Amino acid sequence: MVAIKYEKFKPNSRIAVLTGAGISAESGIPTFRGEGGLWRNFSFEELATPAAFQKDPVLVWEWYNMRRDICGQSEPNPGHEAIAELESIFSEFHLFTQNVDNLHARAGSKKITELHGNIFIGRCLGCNKLTPLPISNKISNKNSIQNLNENEGPPICDGCSNMLRPHILWFGESYDTQMLDQAAEFLSKSDIIFVIGTSGNVSVPVQLANLAINNGAYSIEINPEPSSLSKRVDISIRAKSGEALPEILKKIKSSI
Ligand code: APR
Repeated sequence: MVAIKYEKFKPNSRIAVLTGAGISAESGIPTFRGEGGLWRNFSFEELATPAAFQKDPVLVWEWYNMRRDICGQSEPNPGHEAIAELESIFSEFHLFTQNVDNLHARAGSKKITELHGNIFIGRCLGCNKLTPLPISNKISNKNSIQNLNENEGPPICDGCSNMLRPHILWFGESYDTQMLDQAAEFLSKSDIIFVIGTSGNVSVPVQLANLAINNGAYSIEINPEPSSLSKRVDISIRAKSGEALPEILKKIKSSI
């Protein structure tokens, strides 16, 4: 098996990491397209689009309630923890995640760009105010949210009384351009990029990874299955991230 070239890692290397749902699989959070994936029982048009929310806000909100509970009851795994430790070793480091489960932050990562939002935040349809959401649909703090009840659907903004929606990027919606510009700036000058736990089905994250690769970054994929990026990276490791990353981290620490 081809080995990672640890000599590529220098103390001043600029390290980028792109993660997808696979890094949270070992925390018990279903991926989207794998076995038992979240899209298995629904098509995304029914749930993760503005039109779906407009048509049936209660159904969409209940689906996100269920997902928020799963995320809130899950714990970061050794893969998340290894990435958080990688951030503490390299001053030039940034994590770009497609995940909305907040597990990277809970593992201690700070330099994070959440490309697709965060399931623990509600956004007001009227004033765009962001509101933290509790991990369960039982009201954990009466002041934090009004009438969040699984049968009543989305809560109401305490600023302008409009309905909240999940602060998640839905299909058909555009990415925040400032966020993308900053991501492109960092990735185009990265020395190394890890691509972890993503099938590479969503174009913008794939374009971001390719930006680093096209600019000469040494690229390492960790995924038990091939992805759309497997042929683009320098080395594609067929492994679970929770198992492989702690080992890789150990070798990086002894090589710099
Ligand atoms: N370790 C690493 N990778 C894993 C593991 C694991 N333990 N288990 C599964 N994987 C891999 C799968 O092989 C698959 O390639 O994780 C990937 C998950 O792919 P998807 O389910 O397509 O998830 P992702 O790539 O993150 O989807 C991207 O699509 O639906 C939208 O917005 C949603 O952010 C999501 C985006």
